[in-house]
Amino acid sequence: MRTQVAIIGAGPAGLMLGHLLDLYGIDSVILENRSKDYVVDRVRAGVLEQPVVDLMVQTGIGTRLMREGLRHEGVHFAFGGTRRHINFVEHTGKAIWVYGQNEVVRDLIAAREATGQPLHFEVEEVAVHDVESGHPSVTYCHDGAAHRLEADFIAGCDGFHGISRPAFPAGMLRGFERVYPFAWLGILAHAAPSSEELVYSLHERGFALFSMRTPQITRLYLQCATDDDIANWPDERIWSELQLRLSTSDGWKPNEGEIFQKGITPMRSFVAEPMQWGRLFLAGDAAHIVPPTGAKGLNLAVADVRVLADGLSRYYKGDGETALQAYSDTCLGRIWKVQRFSWWMTSMLHRQSEGVDFDLRRQMAELDYVTSSKAAMTSLAENYVGLDLNVPVPPGS
Ligand code: APR
Ligand code: PHB
Repeated sequence: MRTQVAIIGAGPAGLMLGHLLDLYGIDSVILENRSKDYVVDRVRAGVLEQPVVDLMVQTGIGTRLMREGLRHEGVHFAFGGTRRHINFVEHTGKAIWVYGQNEVVRDLIAAREATGQPLHFEVEEVAVHDVESGHPSVTYCHDGAAHRLEADFIAGCDGFHGISRPAFPAGMLRGFERVYPFAWLGILAHAAPSSEELVYSLHERGFALFSMRTPQITRLYLQCATDDDIANWPDERIWSELQLRLSTSDGWKPNEGEIFQKGITPMRSFVAEPMQWGRLFLAGDAAHIVPPTGAKGLNLAVADVRVLADGLSRYYKGDGETALQAYSDTCLGRIWKVQRFSWWMTSMLHRQSEGVDFDLRRQMAELDYVTSSKAAMTSLAENYVGLDLNVPVPPGS
């Protein structure tokens, strides 16, 4: 079997890459080790930057997003009992959209299936070969049979725990990591959101976040310990902690409802450099992880694959490999800026120790500054709505 680009992983990175390549007229095969249901139902963050929304609309996969997505003009920050709003549109002319990551995945799978291009779920034993030659290949098992897929290029879009990054030769990759001393407990509840926009809160007892999925479903998060067990968090404890950390003196508080999903997620910042070895390219979580404060994971993955699809389209147009060779450096410039923003939001909003101390006072002052200085609000807004990405949209869209 042969294709132009073998894509490992059907998360947002792999699926979006397949979609963009298809618009450029480039063939690909997507190999995913999980089932379709698992991939579609996986609960993840739900905020799309303006550039991602524009891309989805311009490339024909934005119909449901426009119908069901919630356009937000800004976010609130709660601290010291007060709630302050930053209006992104006022500061940048751009907005964000609340739309579950799994909905993006669902739309991308539907688009892929409509093209008839291969997307195989439940493949096993995926391995990459001859990456430094002009003829790389991927071997895998599917439906009990062994396969070899020959390709011009391989895209490792297989997330943090995939096989692509570990396939790099020893000593070739440098990893930069920060593991945070806290985690997020996240819930989904059947409760109408009581605020039209997100509320990020810093409280003496820790961080809390009010978000949503639909006009009937609220998404909420609480800072908890890294070794915490979800069994320690019966619903009553979750609600009382959320009320304590989120309610503000203007009378605002989250609506309660039946909790139908809960889980604890660790937090880390990670970057692997470089993102290319021979004809193997890493994209999305395979190359980097951001802590969820600011919801940049999917947005960053999409930025990577836009750069990669553009480089591949130039190669197939006959422009050579210059753009592909610049892939890693082009992406890393943006990745580190987004890492900085996610780390900064995380540091500003989480408690690192118990009780009232220097750091809490300093963080409160920072929130006061960030929500009152025009320059600071513009800087936060510019990063939140998505830094500019100078990559063309495929002409076939
Ligand atoms: N073979 C095939 N597929 C694999 C393998 C493998 N050996 N290992 C992992 N995968 C699949 C995973 O099952 C997953 O579906 O690769 C996919 C990677 O998808 P994501 O983890 O969603 O990563 P990515 O597409 O880069 O998207 C980044 O997703 O992790 C979230 O919140 C994060 O928003 C971020 C976004
Ligand atoms: C979410 O809705 O899941 C969400 C929103 C904002 C974040 C992180 C997650 O910063």
